[in-house]
Amino acid sequence: MSSVYDAEMKKFMERTKRSEQIYKESVKVTPFGVHSNYRFFEPYPLYFTRGKGSRLWDADGNEYIDFNLAFGVLVAGHSHPILVEAMKERIENGTILGFEFEDSHKLARIICERFRVDMVKFSSTGGEATSYAIRFARAYTGRKKILKFEGCYHGFGDSLLVSVKPSKAKAGHHRFPNQVPASQGILEEVVKNTLVAPFNDLEAVETIMKTHGNEVAGIILEPIPMNMGFVLPDPGFLKGLRDIASEYNSVLIFDEVKTCGKFYGGAAEYFKVEPDLVTMGKAIAGGYPLSLVAGKKEIMNCVVPGVVSHAGTFNSNPLCITAGIVTLTRILTKDAIAEAIRLSEMLAKGYQDIINDTKIPAIVQWAGTSGTVHFTKAKKIKDWRSFLTSEVARWMLYLIIMLNRGVVPMAPGPDEQWTVSVQHTKEDIKKHLEVFKEIAEHVRRLDKEMPMVEAI
Ligand SMILES: Cc1ncc(COP(=O)(O)O)c(C=O)c1O
Repeated sequence: MSSVYDAEMKKFMERTKRSEQIYKESVKVTPFGVHSNYRFFEPYPLYFTRGKGSRLWDADGNEYIDFNLAFGVLVAGHSHPILVEAMKERIENGTILGFEFEDSHKLARIICERFRVDMVKFSSTGGEATSYAIRFARAYTGRKKILKFEGCYHGFGDSLLVSVKPSKAKAGHHRFPNQVPASQGILEEVVKNTLVAPFNDLEAVETIMKTHGNEVAGIILEPIPMNMGFVLPDPGFLKGLRDIASEYNSVLIFDEVKTCGKFYGGAAEYFKVEPDLVTMGKAIAGGYPLSLVAGKKEIMNCVVPGVVSHAGTFNSNPLCITAGIVTLTRILTKDAIAEAIRLSEMLAKGYQDIINDTKIPAIVQWAGTSGTVHFTKAKKIKDWRSFLTSEVARWMLYLIIMLNRGVVPMAPGPDEQWTVSVQHTKEDIKKHLEVFKEIAEHVRRLDKEMPMVEAI
């Protein structure tokens, strides 16, 4: 690593001594000291105590402007005052009732109207929703196989933990990738039934479907992959998938766990392509754990007690349902989302101007309330293989300088992206860009000290 990085790391460790202590205590009782592997990073994870508006405070009392927003959950920002008020009242009247809550159908109706779906089933996490979606697709079609895209992430479910972040060595042919399990403990038989295609390559999907189409229950994708940075679908790609899924009677599933909070009506409305099923989570309940599968009546109606299982003790509990209603009707309104998108655009343009001025090898990709910077010589990141051209060393330098200047630019990983909330201000964006300007100068100088690996 560079001398600048070493100096910044020293500073980071001086500012975050309490996190280091907590980490040392945590590893005694929890592997790697975190309860979601993605929260771990070197030299130790940061531990936080408080969030309010666009701000976060770590255990050492350092204040940050937060653009991670819990991996895109908090488009409403931290503890939005409207939500706080509503939740106080809810907590006083019972948080879980053990029977269906009287307002669940109201939120289901709001979802149906806003996201143009027929029916909804609630759960708690994104991973549950995607696991249910593929179960429904299998039950509806009577088929076994699922087609997913290399680099897309859909949560913990074994069938979908395939080719999430495969190394180049294991990934195989770029157009017809290997099926690479993303964890030990996943059965070979399960992996075998998850086919993998490259994102943005319709021809490859057609070829795979020509061989396996009649066995494919569902095609699942993030309409904007946000677990390999920020990848936009090429014009016609989503529509092409729609046509292929229809041709083979496979269920087209948009995993909108992230994208549902990036545009008012989600990605399906933004791109004007209608999936058969959609999954949502993260942003819809303003920070409370609520997820859902929604979609066409004929598929959703296959969920019959004793026939197709859908269950969960915490499903549609009053806390999360109330949070969902308040968030979607009073906080993430059309106007508020439009304003957050304007700020996201200001951030994206600011990044681009700085890149143009300094001529550093980097590109910005964005839409809606999110986007990212990729440190790469590639012209565009369009799939997992082009994402692999992103340089980690420069990104690490970017992260550490951002943190040391009081900005969490995104979750800790070059495969993540910023989220702008309805509580961010222009001043927050300006501060973020000010720090990026400083980083770009370092990166420019670094090109002499540590040349970037050529994109292949
Ligand atoms: C697109 C997508 N789907 C599903 C999930 C899983 O959601 P959860 O972590 O709530 O289970 C994630 C999590 O980041 C995601 O990004």
